[in-house]
Amino acid sequence: MSLLRCEGVTKYFGGLRALDGVDLVVDPGEIVGLVGPNGSGKTTLMNAISGTFGINAGRVEFDGTDVTGMRPHQRAHLGIARTFQIPKPLPSLSVIDNVALAYTFGRDQVPMGRARQLAGDLLAELELAGKALAPVAHLNLHERKLLGIARALGLEPRLLLLDEVLAGLNPTEVDLGLAMITAVRDRGVAVIYIEHNVKAVTSISDRLYVLNRGTNLVDGNPRDVVADERVVAAYLGDAHADPA
Ligand SMILES: Nc1ncnc2c1ncn2[C@@H]1O[C@H](COP(=O)(O)OP(=O)(O)O)[C@@H](O)[C@H]1O
Ligand SMILES: [Mg+2]
Repeated sequence: MSLLRCEGVTKYFGGLRALDGVDLVVDPGEIVGLVGPNGSGKTTLMNAISGTFGINAGRVEFDGTDVTGMRPHQRAHLGIARTFQIPKPLPSLSVIDNVALAYTFGRDQVPMGRARQLAGDLLAELELAGKALAPVAHLNLHERKLLGIARALGLEPRLLLLDEVLAGLNPTEVDLGLAMITAVRDRGVAVIYIEHNVKAVTSISDRLYVLNRGTNLVDGNPRDVVADERVVAAYLGDAHADPA
């Protein structure tokens, strides 16, 4: 059975159709890349999946449960976690406490003492242990992004939603980030990964979906998808991206 099934997801902002009947399926433990020109509806679809706002039509099903009407915290409790394009840790807390907090809110709602232990283990795995006690303000951009992923993983998700988490990183950091996302998948967590850098997302995705103007354009094997002439044509109008 699929882990996530979006059917006919439709979202209006006033008169603008940001999503118009989008379908998307994610199986357990796979990385699904989500790409498309600027404004094609990628972030809106992620919001529809995490429950940031309600949708106007369609259905979102997670692990066999209709979650369409559920609040974000209810969905998080079922195992849907997301990071935001701009990481928003609590600046007054240390790195480890920010991650521990996620564990206390997560699927198992573990008590704070145990949450700090789990957070310490996770930070070690992400090679952030050296910064565990540091205030969040002392982290560089790369470390902040890792912290964002750590906080999402602290929720012990079955599906992790990543929205352009590698934007602004240098090539070495991008490679580290891609390896980390693959490691997350190898823990059995399914990932939906929105990425402007099509080459990067193609390199780690099991399947790729392309949105265009709020609708499904093409999906399938990443190599086939990026070579599809409809995808190439859609990107020609987007000066910021290059599918090849
Ligand atoms: N909260 C919002 N209010 C009004 N319009 C929005 C809102 N969020 C997104 N949009 C619009 O919906 C469309 C899709 O946006 P978005 O999902 O952010 O695209 P992408 O992430 O693919 O760049 C864009 O035209 C955008 O301006
Ligand atoms: Mg976006």
